[in-house]
Amino acid sequence: MNLKSKNHHLGCSNSYNVPRYLFGFGSFAQLDEMLKLVPNENSKKMRVVYCIDHFFKGHERIKQLPIEPADIVLFIDTTDEPKTDQIDSLVKPLREFSSEIKAIVGMGGGATLDTTKAISNLLTNPGNASDYQGWDLVKNPGIYKIGIPTLSGTGSESSKTCVMTNKNTGVKLGMNSPYSVFDQLILDPDLTKTVPREQYFYTAMDTYVHCVESLAGRHRNAIGDAFSHQALLLCQSVFSQKDIQGDQARADLMVASYLGGCAIANSFVGLVHPLSAGLSVVFGMHHCVANCVVMNVMQEFYPRETDQFHRYLDQQNISLPTGVARGLEPSLFEALYQSSIVHEKPLKNALGEDFKKILTLEKVSRIYELM
Ligand SMILES: [Fe+2]
Repeated sequence: MNLKSKNHHLGCSNSYNVPRYLFGFGSFAQLDEMLKLVPNENSKKMRVVYCIDHFFKGHERIKQLPIEPADIVLFIDTTDEPKTDQIDSLVKPLREFSSEIKAIVGMGGGATLDTTKAISNLLTNPGNASDYQGWDLVKNPGIYKIGIPTLSGTGSESSKTCVMTNKNTGVKLGMNSPYSVFDQLILDPDLTKTVPREQYFYTAMDTYVHCVESLAGRHRNAIGDAFSHQALLLCQSVFSQKDIQGDQARADLMVASYLGGCAIANSFVGLVHPLSAGLSVVFGMHHCVANCVVMNVMQEFYPRETDQFHRYLDQQNISLPTGVARGLEPSLFEALYQSSIVHEKPLKNALGEDFKKILTLEKVSRIYELM
């Protein structure tokens, strides 16, 4: 096999991971120190923009942030996953201050972290969020960004994308770019202590699914594989424990999520994510629960991992939405098909160049009907 031409074909570029990360219980308190590391060649740059999940509005944690009077605090509504127009409206009022902003701090789950990355890139690049949905379209480095995940699993903290949905075109696709990588992370497992249990499980599964898809893909990369293997081991250890939210489990999962994001930065997802994107675009279902709904019926494509997933559901007594696409109008099956089949890179990674011969409208509709 000619790896060189294959990598080129799949659009795999030079790898890039988060340059700095701080891991540990209580590390959140060191944000002040981390802000001092921001390169500041220009004394006019004195503002920090905080993008914080709206869950934290009025929360004790906010008082612990080193917010200065010139800083700008945005609470990000994560009721729905990031939309391109939502990001545009967050960016618009910030543009007049863009020369004064030295850093952007994102604190929250994957949706908040992705929104932070997109805002950072749009403050140094003209146009709208939708202009940059794709691969290597961002031309200028974004504003220095610090990520503080409060949920583990999406890998947004270490990936090189920020996923957004364009409501007008129905395209759910991120800004895949080295500039979508955080400059600094603070990984504090204390922050994931109070996540509701089902949400915790679904989000954790995102890492599991990323790694399963990467390792089963055609596009393999030795370093990506190593990240995936280690992340899977950590996930397996967490899901086998009785208390998946204990201190050790939360710490392990935070590391697994970080490694899972690094794995994806070095490879591609597979079949689950495109089908999951269909559920998100058509029904507005959140990414992580949608992944679980898809993974539940992946026996034909990922048999061993689907069995393992079923065992984890049983052991952890987690229930999933079922029958989500039963008895739909043909036009909705068509919409589900279109919004999943558009993800060519992961589908080629999973099924090869001729993936459309396998994933016909009828086949995809049948898969959705199983869910
Ligand atoms: Fe994901």
